[in-house]
Amino acid sequence: MTIDKKFVDHFVNITSNAALAASYLVGKKDKIAADKAAVDSMRSQLNNLDIRGHIVIGEGELDEAPMLYIGETLGTNNGPEFDIAVDPLEGTNFAAYNLPGALSVIAITEKNNLFNAPETYMEKISANVKEKKVIDLDYSVKKNIYNLSEYLNKKPEYLTACILDRPRHTEIIKELKKLNVNIKLITDGDVSGALLVTENKYKVDIFLGIGGGPEGVLAAAALDTFECGFQGRFLFETENEKDRAKKMGIVDLSKKYELNEIVTGDSIFCATGVTSGDLVSGIKIEGSEFISETLVTHKYSDTKKVIKLKQKI
Ligand code: FBP
Repeated sequence: MTIDKKFVDHFVNITSNAALAASYLVGKKDKIAADKAAVDSMRSQLNNLDIRGHIVIGEGELDEAPMLYIGETLGTNNGPEFDIAVDPLEGTNFAAYNLPGALSVIAITEKNNLFNAPETYMEKISANVKEKKVIDLDYSVKKNIYNLSEYLNKKPEYLTACILDRPRHTEIIKELKKLNVNIKLITDGDVSGALLVTENKYKVDIFLGIGGGPEGVLAAAALDTFECGFQGRFLFETENEKDRAKKMGIVDLSKKYELNEIVTGDSIFCATGVTSGDLVSGIKIEGSEFISETLVTHKYSDTKKVIKLKQKI
């Protein structure tokens, strides 16, 4: 079974309009309002689609998120049954402070093919490597870098690692520096960070470190179509997080997930720029029209491209 290609256009439209909604709040120093604008737009558009959609990754669980909560069903209830992961505004700080890299993101698979991820941190690693055992979450930073260096036939000093600029990464960054690896530090936005390994033009060879679990699942959907390697391991800190994970059916709380344990079968991924960043340009308004750029992947049709749309507001 595959997802009909017509849905690519539908979902590009949805993230484009959610990005437009958030774009009005760019630079207004209110990340909650910017997020809400994107959430409201995405939710009402999803509800108009002829699908039976189940949110598996959203704004949180019902007790903390009234919209796009995990378990919410959306669509007209006519049509194919999908699992949906959303991050209507990824990089809320970027939008609030008019910084590069805010995105509106969605990923879709057929029912039961997308991991139901809890709202916790995830240890992640990705690189443009198809073979197993080149990069691995269980390896040291040194081993990952040496393996990748050999695989890509590039000395460590010509490799670039992307990582979130967080105190929790001090040791990894120290080790990367010791190995002479170039470092691209990002202040937020690790969906985009993980996707920078997909094409040479981004000049990033490996993405690693700890970021949001939902963001990891979203990135995995696109990385699958790009045939890149990805692994993720959820990090459950509090008892509450552990209980929630168990309720979601996660038995082994320290399991390392391979990409195809997170996303299987056909998938569509769309990320529209709210502000311009590494992957796509942000929303531009020209009179009564707006221009959006969306990075799209569709596994079955092997689509991986940026779609630029000009449409009426
Ligand atoms: P928001 O858009 O929800 O603000 O998330 C931004 C982000 O940078 C994610 O891309 C990343 O996964 C996560 O926050 C990292 O979390 P933290 O800021 O707690 O390190």
